Amino acid sequence: MTKKRIAVIGAGISGLGAIKCCLDEDLEPTCFERNDDIGGLWKFQKNPSEKMPSIYKSVTINTSKEMMCFSDFPIPDHFPNYMHNTKLMDYFRMYAKHFGLLNYICFKTKVCSVRKRPDFSNSGQWDVVVEMNEKQETLVFDGILVCSGHHTDPYLPLHSFPGIEKFEGCYFHSREYKSPEDFVGKRIIVVGIGNSGVDIAVELSRVAKQVFLSTRRGSWILHRVWENGYPMDSSFFTRFNSFLQKILTTSLINNYLEKILNSRFNHSHYGLQPKHRLLSQHPTVSDDLPNHIISGRVHVKPNVREFTERDVIFEDGTVEENVDVVVFATGYSFSFPFLDGLIEVANNEVSLYKLMFPPDLEKPTLAVIGLIQPLGIVLPIAELQSRWATRVFKGLSKLPSTKTMMANIAQRKRAMDKRYVKTARHTIQVDHIEYMDEIATLVGVKPNLLFLFLSDPKLAVEVFFGPCTPYQYRLQGPGKWAGARRAILTQRERIIKPLRTRIVSEDSHSASWLSWIKMATFGLAFLAAGSAYFRCIRHGERK
Ligand SMILES: *[C@@H]1O[C@H](CO)[C@@H](O)[C@H](O)[C@H]1NC(C)=O
Ligand SMILES: *[C@@H]1O[C@H](CO)[C@@H](O)[C@H](O)[C@H]1NC(C)=O
Repeated sequence: MTKKRIAVIGAGISGLGAIKCCLDEDLEPTCFERNDDIGGLWKFQKNPSEKMPSIYKSVTINTSKEMMCFSDFPIPDHFPNYMHNTKLMDYFRMYAKHFGLLNYICFKTKVCSVRKRPDFSNSGQWDVVVEMNEKQETLVFDGILVCSGHHTDPYLPLHSFPGIEKFEGCYFHSREYKSPEDFVGKRIIVVGIGNSGVDIAVELSRVAKQVFLSTRRGSWILHRVWENGYPMDSSFFTRFNSFLQKILTTSLINNYLEKILNSRFNHSHYGLQPKHRLLSQHPTVSDDLPNHIISGRVHVKPNVREFTERDVIFEDGTVEENVDVVVFATGYSFSFPFLDGLIEVANNEVSLYKLMFPPDLEKPTLAVIGLIQPLGIVLPIAELQSRWATRVFKGLSKLPSTKTMMANIAQRKRAMDKRYVKTARHTIQVDHIEYMDEIATLVGVKPNLLFLFLSDPKLAVEVFFGPCTPYQYRLQGPGKWAGARRAILTQRERIIKPLRTRIVSEDSHSASWLSWIKMATFGLAFLAAGSAYFRCIRHGERK
């Protein structure tokens, strides 16, 4: 039998993993990438072509290396926990080289359209029109993995900013911001408190005369360097915490986390306090923002009401005069122009089963990969999605009926609406471990904790209490990787290694004390969780 041919659209973090998964499942991938390099969003470009996301020079990723790596390819232990975009590109190149992925990528090739072939209901095949060197060509594929990402179209709602047309300073979308040199001594307003907005405000405030950070809602600000200096995500995303989250109420967890964040700096005093609870909005990650607010280099302001020729008037009536520059860090929306309306996007909302499959295709031969905004980490999620999609393409895993899929989609939407502030930003949210486990169950690779506790307690303890790293999904089932156990048991060493560039001799007493305290804390947490659980049950009974 000839191998099934799969088109992978895009060679960013989702596309690279998708190519590798095709190879693992003995499919024949061809990846089309419009750029001349891999990396997608993470490839820095001084002059990005139209309609592309683009990062600035200093961007450092906000997820840590043990949590964000490909599940069978740990990041070298000397790499920093949070990588600069150039380091990240080094890692992607190592991955692509190791698994020979470059052989399957056609660079500078744009996908113009993807259409069902006339016999689609039988064959499930697609006609894909690609353009290279201004020449178009039609190719036939048995399956499509759409890896074009969700940062596709810069979102710049100028109509919500009256007077911007007469404003005489300069203004632009954050994608055009590259570095601070041109902004020395300027008065600058950054609109938007997402990750780009905060990063850019902080960076500019080092050279600007004054930076104002304008936000409509405010935001909870997380920090990369978490308790005891561990990376935030590696402390946060553990199965133990996920278990607590299930048995405790959301408001209890909100209280706890908000208390931690407010103990670093009171969000209310710093003008950042949002109306909503922590888990109701996608948070922002910035270690530097409070430092720049306390030193007066960034002033937090409310939403802009109006622009005049030189001034900006805010919703609280305050005016900032002689503003030179406005940076709109208003984010991105996504679309799939090449899919010919096959996937409708309205207000950033899509109807996809498990956020991947259009529910109404006669044959399940097209999947969208990485179209998620996780309270978690995109790369391992996208990789796991590809592992499932390729198995669906091969018929090893089956999708339910259209009706069941539609019901599931509706249910996911209701859950999202219930939890999140209603904005275009919260349409593709998922919780990291919950969603990973959901997809892993479909692939057959969710770690079996009970079995682990009985057969390999040391590993089980790290899997349950330690960071929920991607290797956990390579311990068993299809795509099992022999190095997974070792990778999990050495993950903490790889976190510490790049930090300890000056070795300090250790005091063994305090170390053993620490572990005692840790165990006692776990015990207490368990008791607290248990009693809260029983209180809930009793409360339920009384009702
Ligand atoms: C934070 O500031 C608000 C408003 O001033 C105040 O009510 C609250 O008690 C403060 N929280 C802490 C922990 O200081
Ligand atoms: C981390 O950065 C990405 C951009 O790469 C952003 O989409 C995401 O929201 C950030 N994560 C958090 C928790 O803010």
